[in-house]
Amino acid sequence: MTFDRVAAVEWYRRNRERSRALFDLIADSAYYSQPIALRHPIVFYEGHLPGFSFNTLVKKALGRASIDARLESLFARGIDPHENSGGSGGSGTVGGWPSRDEVRRFADEADRHVVDALEQDDLERRGDPLLDRADAVFTILEHEAMHQETLLYMWHRLPLEQKRAPAGYRPTLDGAPPRQEWIDVPPGCATLGVARGAVRFGWDNEFPAFSAQVAPFSIERHDTSNAQFLEFVDAGGYANREVWRPEDWAWIERERIAHPLFWERHGDRWMWRGMFELAPLPPAWPVYVSQAEAAAYARWRGMRLPTEAEFQRAAFGSPEGERVHPWGDAPPDRSRGAFDFESWDPQPAGAHPKGESAWGVADLVGNGWEWTSTTFGPFPGFHAMASYPEYSADFFDGEHVVMKGASPATAHELLRPSFRNWFRTRYPYVYATFRCAR
Ligand SMILES: [Fe+2]
Repeated sequence: MTFDRVAAVEWYRRNRERSRALFDLIADSAYYSQPIALRHPIVFYEGHLPGFSFNTLVKKALGRASIDARLESLFARGIDPHENSGGSGGSGTVGGWPSRDEVRRFADEADRHVVDALEQDDLERRGDPLLDRADAVFTILEHEAMHQETLLYMWHRLPLEQKRAPAGYRPTLDGAPPRQEWIDVPPGCATLGVARGAVRFGWDNEFPAFSAQVAPFSIERHDTSNAQFLEFVDAGGYANREVWRPEDWAWIERERIAHPLFWERHGDRWMWRGMFELAPLPPAWPVYVSQAEAAAYARWRGMRLPTEAEFQRAAFGSPEGERVHPWGDAPPDRSRGAFDFESWDPQPAGAHPKGESAWGVADLVGNGWEWTSTTFGPFPGFHAMASYPEYSADFFDGEHVVMKGASPATAHELLRPSFRNWFRTRYPYVYATFRCAR
């Protein structure tokens, strides 16, 4: 796999264009707001995306000089503070942020240097810790693609009047949930990690190759729908201490949580807080919840969440060996699942039969990340990547769990079997759903 410079430039521009389009969805009045208390205010991200690319590729990998040391450090990093720590990191008050013009000037300048490097520099250097296999280039490209999803779930929490829907967008609200059923998956080997040479790029937590033997298990064909989860809510699931882990129960009590964050009670009906509108709860959509809520639901039904290895086996296993995607080796397209910014909201479960896995399990990649019961950790032989050493290592703390699959806001470039996502168990903002196993 040789480095394709033209494709890299094209991807970088495509990323920047999409990021701009996402910022165009929100009103100016939202720019300094902080829709999720554990994250930075929105202004941070407009500087962070090009800032990270500049820092990583131009400064770190190529050893060039700063363009604005103050802004480069202000926009350096900001993910996943502890649920109790709150605040906006070390960046001070909202009033301390630069003006939007200043942020955009910095972004333009950073972009200019990055594109220049992508077009001209020697970016693939064997044995160089940052540029071996053009690692730093793919680091910045996938970093921006991933942030686009986190931007969207931040936008999701903004007041509706601060967002404008793209022309013609209508979520698919109708439809009955598909009939849920159990699918038996035979025992076999599941590949979780991948060998460095086998993929163009991967994050450090995907390496090295790692396989697990998976015992026979059953998994639900469909994601848990809002209609199914409503049974748990109606049965008093949020008041039933028995089904919650002690630390999750403490959270439920402390925060007085009584339903999924994406649901709102209006009078006597449940509504879904969509990206651009409030709609009557769509029964067929996968429920979006934290891992704590998913685990409580599963326990209430006498089931459990799948492990990471079981997810892999359900998604990529087949009687003939493993696949690149659940549906086979054909590239991802819209017929296979809800991903790659196909929609601003979920779609009815089971709407993409052409995306089913070899065993007939639906929506494993797309329409919402899927929580597993597996604590996020390194595969044996892990070492942190030079282009972004804190990317994974900072989260091997026993407090994060693995999510697999993809959501409607996951770029198609990230759809590979070894790609892993992770969050704290009580983080309710992500586009994440689940299905039960037994
Ligand atoms: Fe970042």
